[in-house]
Amino acid sequence: MIQVWINGKEWQVPEGLTMIQAMWYTGHEVIHGIGCLGGVCGACAAVYRMPGNFRLFNALACQTLVKEGMAFSLIASYPTQRAHYDIEQIPDAKEGLFTLYPESATCRNCNACTEVCPQGIDVRTSVWQAAFGDFKGVAETTMSCVMCGLCVSRCIAEMAPHEIALYARRAYASRELAFPENLRQRMDSVASGAYDKELERLSRLSPDQLKLECGVK
Ligand code: SF4
Ligand code: SF4
Ligand code: FES
Repeated sequence: MIQVWINGKEWQVPEGLTMIQAMWYTGHEVIHGIGCLGGVCGACAAVYRMPGNFRLFNALACQTLVKEGMAFSLIASYPTQRAHYDIEQIPDAKEGLFTLYPESATCRNCNACTEVCPQGIDVRTSVWQAAFGDFKGVAETTMSCVMCGLCVSRCIAEMAPHEIALYARRAYASRELAFPENLRQRMDSVASGAYDKELERLSRLSPDQLKLECGVK
């Protein structure tokens, strides 16, 4: 067993658990701030400190094992200003960025967003790429973003770098990339009702039958 602090309270938990498993083990109800459990959805942003170290570390709670003396909390959601738009309807993508996210031109180069990113993304560079209209560059720089929102929590210019990057990726994809043929085929299949029967069958299964169907014990 090891000693950890969860939301400021001391607990003993078995070694080898992830942060989220340690929360379950100690009876915390983790409903918000959890999704894929596979390091993909970005729902489980967390902050932690280790004994004798002043640094505040960041992590995805489903991917990070607890350690002796660790003190951590989940940051299940960080308020973000998210613009609503139809990317196809924006005539000039670069102008559109400054209309929807005027703060994207105010980066102060502190690099805190890069240092906080649990995916190791050079977030500061992506913000500058967006401001200069290099949306392809943004797409390449932020390819592994999981939208956890931790960069928002640190930005002294009060911007949401991950939302700016999402806008840039959409602008790049809609203007410069061909629509993926396999996706078009799958959308056509869905629209033609090819999966309706199977969906209907699944929707009638009980929770236990669904577990069997998914191979969950
Ligand atoms: S860029 Fe921001 S939202 Fe994306 S993974 Fe990094 S910290 Fe999370
Ligand atoms: S945290 Fe904000 S101000 Fe600092 S480098 Fe990143 S985007 Fe710029
Ligand atoms: S629960 Fe999806 S990344 Fe952790």
